[in-house]
Amino acid sequence: MTSQFDVIIPRRGSGSYKWDSSDDLQSLPMWVADMDFRTAPAIIEALSDRVAHGVFGYTKVPDAYYEALGSWFANRHGFQIERDWVIYTSGVVPAISAILKALTRPGERVLIQTPVYNCFYSSIANMGCIPLENVLIAGEDGHYGIDFEDLEAKAAEPDVHVMLLCNPHNPVGRSWRVEELSRIGDICLRHGVTVVSDEIHCDLTFPDHTHHPFATIKQEFLAASVTCISPSKAFNIAGLQIANIVVTDEELRSRIGKAINIHEVCDVNPFGVAALIAAYREGGSWLDELRGYLQANYQTVSDFIASNMPTLRLTQQEATYLAWIDCRALSLSSDAIEARLATEGHLLVNSGTLYGAAGEGYIRLNMACPRAQLLDGLERMQTVLTQ
Ligand SMILES: Cc1ncc(COP(=O)(O)O)c(C=O)c1O
Repeated sequence: MTSQFDVIIPRRGSGSYKWDSSDDLQSLPMWVADMDFRTAPAIIEALSDRVAHGVFGYTKVPDAYYEALGSWFANRHGFQIERDWVIYTSGVVPAISAILKALTRPGERVLIQTPVYNCFYSSIANMGCIPLENVLIAGEDGHYGIDFEDLEAKAAEPDVHVMLLCNPHNPVGRSWRVEELSRIGDICLRHGVTVVSDEIHCDLTFPDHTHHPFATIKQEFLAASVTCISPSKAFNIAGLQIANIVVTDEELRSRIGKAINIHEVCDVNPFGVAALIAAYREGGSWLDELRGYLQANYQTVSDFIASNMPTLRLTQQEATYLAWIDCRALSLSSDAIEARLATEGHLLVNSGTLYGAAGEGYIRLNMACPRAQLLDGLERMQTVLTQ
């Protein structure tokens, strides 16, 4: 059966960071985290209506925005978000930088679980802070877990006041369980560490997995955490630049608000607002079809690797469209693999070390594309890595 997600949409020449950053016109980009799918029809319609209006002045975020967001998170994730807790902004990365500005002082260390999304490192560095790594444990079964003893010891360090949690986790694909989040939260509470939970991938769990917002695990976690959310990954609207910070504590919210406003870049654009409302109001069934398609893509990668590149190992994944592939059996550095795939296979992936030293020997492959394109990428990989 064909799917709407099987349609190949040419993106080269469309001003796409993913497709237009390379001069190699034969290259197949499977790196930066956006999808090669058209967004949900309801979003396209809402944007077309907004364009047809023809006036694009400064934006007043309407009540409908908060209502759509509130209903989505209450219904999908059991997270009751009050309107006053929400600060809108242009992206999760700017949000994290502003939160770090509000919560840390230069020279302090910030806890992260590595390998992890590369911009965590840059946001920490930009605030004059230093990353403190709680390295995730890569299990024999290809499933990642947490070293809680190490986490506790590091959270207890006197210069650690913030932990950046990635839930679900990019790049290891975990959708953290209630017990894991509970232990993380208890450790952080014991040591006065505020958890900043980046939940940008929350809507991209595989169909048989559930996202658990960190703030919903215990009442105390809600009060002692900050959550970053956006429809951008799940609905493929990253270019529209819309995201939200959820923070219950009034004083902290005011500090974060100030940090966001300090460079006067706090305003959002009308397209991001219209897209978010349409996504959260009407995008549910489209999203569920997408989640099924992405899981089938993951299965395709898994089967292909098992049959054609058996020395590589695919991480057991529960969420996100980013495959994390263990290539350590090749005895090549991640950077060397990335370079060989680009030059010999015209395939663009991310080197595992972009996500920290713990990613050495791995590559990250973006699976969010039509299946025929995915198979093309996998065949390119096989040609280069098995010759
Ligand atoms: C964990 C995580 N946070 C944030 C972002 C980017 O957020 P934004 O584009 O809203 O700044 C990404 C993009 O891949 C991500 O994986």
